Amino acid sequence: MEEQVKIKACMHIGGEWIGEELNSKNVINPANGETVGSFPIGGEKETQMAIDAAHRAFETWSEITAYERAGYLKKLYHLMLENQEELAQTMTLEMGKPINESRGEVVYAATFIEWFAEEGKRVYGETIPSHVGAKRLQVWKKPVGVVAAITPWNFPAAMLTRKMGPALAAGCTVIMKPSGESPLTAVKLMELCEEAGFPKGVVNLVTGSSSKITKTLMEDERVRKITFTGSTEVGKILIRQSADQVKRLSLELGGHAPLIVLDDADIDKAVKGVMASKFRNAGQTCICANRIYVHAGVYEAFIEKFAEQVGQLKVGDGMDESVAVGPLINQSGLEKVSHHVKDAVAKGATVVTGGESIDSSNGVFYKPTIVKDVDASMVVMQEETFGPVAPVQKIYSDEEAIKLANSTPYGLAAYIFTENVARGTKLIEKLNFGIVGWNDGAPSAAQVPFGGMKESGIGREGGHEGMDAFVESQYVSIGME
Ligand code: SIN
Repeated sequence: MEEQVKIKACMHIGGEWIGEELNSKNVINPANGETVGSFPIGGEKETQMAIDAAHRAFETWSEITAYERAGYLKKLYHLMLENQEELAQTMTLEMGKPINESRGEVVYAATFIEWFAEEGKRVYGETIPSHVGAKRLQVWKKPVGVVAAITPWNFPAAMLTRKMGPALAAGCTVIMKPSGESPLTAVKLMELCEEAGFPKGVVNLVTGSSSKITKTLMEDERVRKITFTGSTEVGKILIRQSADQVKRLSLELGGHAPLIVLDDADIDKAVKGVMASKFRNAGQTCICANRIYVHAGVYEAFIEKFAEQVGQLKVGDGMDESVAVGPLINQSGLEKVSHHVKDAVAKGATVVTGGESIDSSNGVFYKPTIVKDVDASMVVMQEETFGPVAPVQKIYSDEEAIKLANSTPYGLAAYIFTENVARGTKLIEKLNFGIVGWNDGAPSAAQVPFGGMKESGIGREGGHEGMDAFVESQYVSIGME
């Protein structure tokens, strides 16, 4: 497998693989500390080249039909599925996700390409009834232009395709900038784009210095749109940097998801939901449950069943088929998780299971953990943990659940578990979150809008709103006299 991820040059600009001569950075497997590959450290010059290439390609790519563009995207979709195993192994080796989850992510990622290939055919304009007889009023739709897609390490394939799919289908050209922690999956995807036959410059890949690449993208007026998944902190920087040229922005930022279990919930369903939400990708997911609020009437029963399930999770190297929870991405991720648990315990919480890192020669592992009797004073209930820690707080009413859930600047995802339709509906109406899973711990899909309220972002990815993000409306008033 090592051969497959060792790459000579991994930037792809204007149809050429470049960057072999540049300094490179190693990609480290967080499960064992081994080097799994390296990528060139590109900067201003390479980013400028990518912008030139994408800008040139935009002229023709935006003019061919949506049906032709769908043809390329469909080829990419099939290639992703044919190469599922190689993509999945690359992903697991570079960022630690259990191999079965990586396989699932490849399919999830591919569905964005397929869905938007079709949706591109439905970018309809409008004819609006005129107030006078001698005019025809229309709305035409135009691709926004060159798009820069800046993506995180935690979903190395799906976060790219959720952006590339609609951008390419709409007629935009794309510059991908993957995270330095997990760029190799993007390189594999780029190889598949090449195999799918996308014309030169339509899809480009730059790797390297995030600050230099982003600065160059931001300062060049030919880049019309930035689409970013990552932290709220970086999102705010991008908002400021985009102001001078009023660049279009889609931002999918941090989350701090509440998961509420009411006293009429089906406890088995709730435990299944929290397991799916909390421990996916070792808790390193923007939408994973980060604060669990359980009604006093079912608190002990829930914790007992939850602990039983968590105790069975096997932790280890994601390449082992039987592993359910892989490593954290790096040492600072581990330190954050450990700090959250220690702070909670120091302030009176109790560890039900886990609560410590796992000794491993070079891997970065933390035991799947439940901490009970937490409260709002604890860091674990105030910040995104991004790790396999489930803090559980006892609540006494729906009103308390709503108040606690909304008491955060974030508004990405929330989960509720109740069998009562009226109660669930009222609760959701009061929750300020862009995504709500009701008796469902895994709400993501290509055809639905994914994104957050408040400081969790701007805009939506996926679904028809995900396409709108790459299209401008042009109102045309036609005088008929
Ligand atoms: C994320 O962490 O933002 C991605 C999660 C998902 O798409 O389900």
